[in-house]
Formats: sequence, structure tokens, C-alpha cells
Amino acid sequence: MFSKLWLTLVVAASVLVVDARQIRKQEIHARQAEAVKRWQNSAHSFPVRRAAAPKNITFSNPKASEFYVDGKSIPEVDFDVGPSWSGLLPISADPNETRKLFFWFFPPGPQGSLDDLIFWTNGGPGCSSLEGFLQENGPFQWGVGTAKPIVNEWSWTNLSSVLWVEQPVGTGFSQGKPNIRNEDDLAAQLVGFMQQFLEVFSELKHKKLYLTGESYAGTYVPYIANYIYTHPTALDLSLQGIWIADPSLSWDVVQEQIPAVDFVHKYENVFAFNQTFMRQLDALATKCNYAGYFQKHVTYPPNGLLPLPGKSTSADPGCDVWDIIFDAALRVNPAFNIYRIFDTFPVLWDVLGFPGSFEDIQLAPLYFDREDVKKAIHAPLNVSWAECSNINVFPHGDGSLPSALTVLPNVIEKSNRTVIVHGLADFILIAEGTRIVIQNMTWNGKQGFQTPIANDSFLVDGVGALGTSHIERGLTYVEVELSGHMVPQYSPLAAFQSMQYLMGMRDTP
Ligand SMILES: *[C@@H]1O[C@H](CO)[C@@H](O)[C@H](O)[C@H]1NC(C)=O
Ligand SMILES: *[C@@H]1O[C@H](CO)[C@@H](O)[C@H](O)[C@H]1NC(C)=O
Ligand SMILES: *[C@@H]1O[C@H](CO)[C@@H](O)[C@H](O)[C@H]1NC(C)=O
Ligand SMILES: *[C@@H]1O[C@H](CO)[C@@H](O)[C@H](O)[C@H]1NC(C)=O
Ligand SMILES: *[C@@H]1O[C@H](CO)[C@@H](O)[C@H](O)[C@H]1NC(C)=O
Ligand SMILES: *[C@@H]1O[C@H](CO)[C@@H](O)[C@H](O)[C@H]1NC(C)=O
Ligand SMILES: *[C@@H]1O[C@H](CO)[C@@H](O)[C@H](O)[C@H]1NC(C)=O
Ligand SMILES: *[C@@H]1O[C@H](CO)[C@@H](O)[C@H](O)[C@H]1NC(C)=O
Repeated sequence: MFSKLWLTLVVAASVLVVDARQIRKQEIHARQAEAVKRWQNSAHSFPVRRAAAPKNITFSNPKASEFYVDGKSIPEVDFDVGPSWSGLLPISADPNETRKLFFWFFPPGPQGSLDDLIFWTNGGPGCSSLEGFLQENGPFQWGVGTAKPIVNEWSWTNLSSVLWVEQPVGTGFSQGKPNIRNEDDLAAQLVGFMQQFLEVFSELKHKKLYLTGESYAGTYVPYIANYIYTHPTALDLSLQGIWIADPSLSWDVVQEQIPAVDFVHKYENVFAFNQTFMRQLDALATKCNYAGYFQKHVTYPPNGLLPLPGKSTSADPGCDVWDIIFDAALRVNPAFNIYRIFDTFPVLWDVLGFPGSFEDIQLAPLYFDREDVKKAIHAPLNVSWAECSNINVFPHGDGSLPSALTVLPNVIEKSNRTVIVHGLADFILIAEGTRIVIQNMTWNGKQGFQTPIANDSFLVDGVGALGTSHIERGLTYVEVELSGHMVPQYSPLAAFQSMQYLMGMRDTP
């Protein structure tokens, strides 16, 4: 009995050894490394303006040295990130000016251009651009869930100089009392700051400027660009174009509500809702005029202006499907992340504490709230830094209309290139909603795109199709598969490649 059982076990085990799919660590790592290399090779191919030697940048104004950051002395960063400059500068030349913005400036890396300057802002309103710096497009990166900072192969400093600014007043380390009423006030203060910056770093005057950002920066950036185009002598830089990712461009009902239930259907297995609930969602979508909106109204070219589904620009009573979906998603998957729907347990910790749909701090204080970090980057020690400010940066609300309904067409018309990028795994702003916005907007004499956005039309060099891209009359729209809200974080190469295109370094995004 015993020996028979033993024999059976031995036979079973040997069958298992023969049949079982075994993949060893080295093989897994080799295949992963091969895939990573395909992406890295692409980041390293610079079709235009390849420069051979390292770039040296020196500033003649002695005041610049007060802002110098030694790249070997940044806490927790165990490599040299090279020279940079950071600190506070006022928003005007008034010697009594109390309002100051915090910036971090990096010169270009070895292959970057000395002719250009990229400006980056995060959104919110009131969220710090140091998030973009540390987790999206900066020269070193401390990603969510990782033990320490690493080199960012896809740093935008590989393209040119980059200036990260915490704005408007009330954001991050910035100083002073917020008093802006709308986006024009915001633009005037930011341009005021930029002029003060150029007084200290005057070698940067007359460079080609690119304004970039994500999320609520879809409102900020077009208004800042429009301000610069309509005040041509206000800024000693030559604005060329803008790049905005997962931008807030129009009404919430358009960018969140209309496409929400279609989005759930597209990713049905990710949401994993029960069938009863799916039927309830479908019924709501029908009742609220969201169902069938795309088939009927989002045509190429459009058949006239696109209607709102109801009376409200946010959601009619009983039609807030976005919030209903969010609550249900958290029931099924408590780690559900509105910024990237694929997240499941475990929730990864974040050295910046946000964003995510939850509190995810493990080590306190937050990186930029550490005294040694503040000292290294000339940040005020008496500010308790948070990724998104508790202060209302628009004390009485933002009085401006959404940018696509006002200034964006003019900005597209005045710019060489305008790039809108959208991550397809983003639920806080939904790509299909941005398609509605574009099809309802008139620029350069026509409304919307005239020909359909082709599938598989966004090609990553050496990798292949990763979404869609479409160019008409100066506007370029790119949708990125698998990317969440923060495209430079979730799909750094897609962001990098589309920036090369913005800057004229390649002909397609
Ligand atoms: C991009 O920047 C990173 C960080 O500065 C650097 O390590 C990398 O070599 C750069 N890549 C290229 C292609 O210049
Ligand atoms: C940059 O500076 C280094 C050291 O001072 C020097 O060797 C190099 O030639 C300079 N490169 C350029 C492009 O000016
Ligand atoms: C700055 O403030 C001082 C003291 O209140 C005042 O005397 C001076 O006129 C102010 N300067 C300007 C340019 O407003
Ligand atoms: C489309 O634009 C028109 C004119 O600006 C506006 O009245 C309408 O509400 C817009 N529709 C959508 C869906 O945003
Ligand atoms: C189906 O999902 C809804 C929304 O989360 C929930 O209220 C309901 O209890 C679920 N029903 C079942 C059977 O799980
Ligand atoms: C922090 O210090 C600066 C400079 O000393 C001062 O102007 C500012 O009011 C202080 N801020 C706070 C919040 O105490
Ligand atoms: C793109 O693919 C989707 C989903 O398969 C399809 O419904 C749509 O018609 C395609 N679009 C074009 C322009 O071919
Ligand atoms: C913008 O367009 C002008 C005119 O075609 C051209 O001279 C300039 O180089 C362009 N700038 C960029 C950044 O592409």
C-alpha cells in the first residue's frame, strides 16, 4: 500500500517535471531586458539636431549663483544629476513684491538643444510641478512603490533646457497670498515671474519656448500661451507651441460623464462589475442621453455643433454616472485608481503622497517636505510642502471659461504645433471626451477633424502601434494605449516622442 502510493507519487512527480511549464529567473530577466532595450533604443534615436559634445551653460549675472544646486548633493540621489538652479523668484519687478514662485531649472543634457526652453506645469488647480519633476519628466525619478531615485532615461532635459515652476501663487513652496480671479490673471503673474527669471538667467532670453503640462494645465497652458500671443512684448522668449496631456479643456459633462459608461464597456473585464449593475448603468446612460452620443454626434467631419446631453455642464440630477462608477469600482477593487484603471492590490506607496485615489504615504515626511531636501534646493524651510495645496489658489473660483471654448483655437492658429496627448487608461478625464471637445471646436477655418482618426496610427519607434495619432490644421492629437493620466510617468517614451515632434525634431509624433 505504502510503496504503491510512493510509486504513484514518484510517477506523478516525474510527469509534472516533464510537463510543467518552467521558466527560470534568468530567462524571464533576459526577455524583459530585451523588451526594455527596444524602448530605450528608441529614446536614444534623435533624428534631428544631434549634438556631439556635452552642453555647457553659464550665467553671467552673479545672482544666478545663489540658485545653483550641486547635482551631487541631492538627498537620496546616489548619482550626479549635473548642475541645476532652483529657488524662489517674485512675480514682478516691484522690490516690495511678496508673491514668489518656486522653480527648478535644468540645462540640456548631452544631446539636448541649447536653442529651446521647455516650461512645465502640473494642474490641480494648486498641484505642484515638482510631481512632474520627480515622477514624470525630470532627470531623476522616484517612482511610486520604488526604494530610491533612479536616472530617468526619458528625461525631457535630453531634449533641451527645462523649467519646472510651482504656480500659481498658493501652490507648493510659492509665497504670498493668492488673489487671481481667472486664467488671464494667472497668465499675467506667470509671465511676470518668467521675466524676473530671465533677468537672472538672461542667457536664456530669446530662446524658443514650449509650454507644457497636464490635467488642469489644459486650462492653464492655453491661457498662458494666448496671453503671450496677445501681449507680444511681455516676454523675452519666442513661443513656438504647446503640449498638454489629459487636459481639462471643456465641461465635466463632456470629458467625464458622456463617455463614462462606454469606457466601462470598453474595459468591462477591468471594472468587473456585476451584470445587474451593468444593466443599471446602461439604463442611466440611455435616460441621460449619453448612450449612442458617439455614433450620432462624433462624426468626421462633424455635422454641425455638438449638443450637450442635458441642461447641466456638469451633470443633470441623477445623471452623475462618473461618481456612481467610481464608488462601484472601489467596492470591487479598493485599490482602484482613477488616474490608471489597471491598478489592483497592493496599493504602492508614494514618496509624494499623491495622486492616487487613496492615502499612500509610508515614510514621513514627504520628500519635498524634508529639511535636507529644502536646503539643497533653496526652498523655504517654513513651508509645509504638499503635492496639492489646501489653499484655494483661485480664492473666488476660476472665472474663466474652459480653454477649448475660448482661447485654444487662437493658440493653435498662432503656434507652429499644438499637441494634445491622452492616456487611454485614464478615468478622471476620458479620451473619448477629448474627441468630443475637438470635434466641437473650430480652428483655422473649419470645425473639428475632417477625416477619421485611424486606428494604430501612433507608432513608437522600433516598437510599433501604441494608439492613435492624427494631425489637421496645426492640431495634433495622440492617444496612448495603456497610459494613465500622467503620460510622461506611465508612458515616458510616448511623451518623449511627441515632445520631439512638438519641437520640430521629427515629422510625426
Ligand atoms: C537622458 O537623460 C538621462 C538623465 O540625464 C541620461 O542618463 C541619458 O543618458 C540621457 N539619454 C540620452 C539619449 O541622452
Ligand atoms: C564644456 O566645459 C568643459 C569643461 O570646462 C570643456 O572641457 C568642454 O570643452 C566644454 N564644452 C563645450 C561644448 O563648450
Ligand atoms: C516699498 O515699501 C516701503 C516701505 O513700506 C516703501 O517706503 C516704498 O515706497 C515701497 N516701494 C515701492 C516701490 O512700492
Ligand atoms: C459645442 O459648442 C457650442 C458653441 O460653443 C456650445 O454651445 C455647445 O455647448 C458645445 N457642445 C459641447 C458638447 O460641448
Ligand atoms: C452589484 O454591484 C452593485 C454596485 O456596486 C452593488 O450595489 C450590488 O450589491 C452588486 N450586486 C451583487 C449581487 O454583487
Ligand atoms: C516664511 O518665511 C518667509 C521669509 O522669511 C516669509 O516671508 C514668509 O511669510 C514665511 N511664511 C510663513 C508661512 O510663515
Ligand atoms: C477602430 O477600431 C474600433 C474598435 O475595433 C472600431 O470600432 C473603429 O471603427 C475603428 N476606427 C477606424 C477609423 O477604423
Ligand atoms: C516654426 O515655423 C517657422 C516658419 O515655418 C520656422 O521658421 C520655425 O523654425 C518653426 N519653429 C519650430 C520650432 O518648428
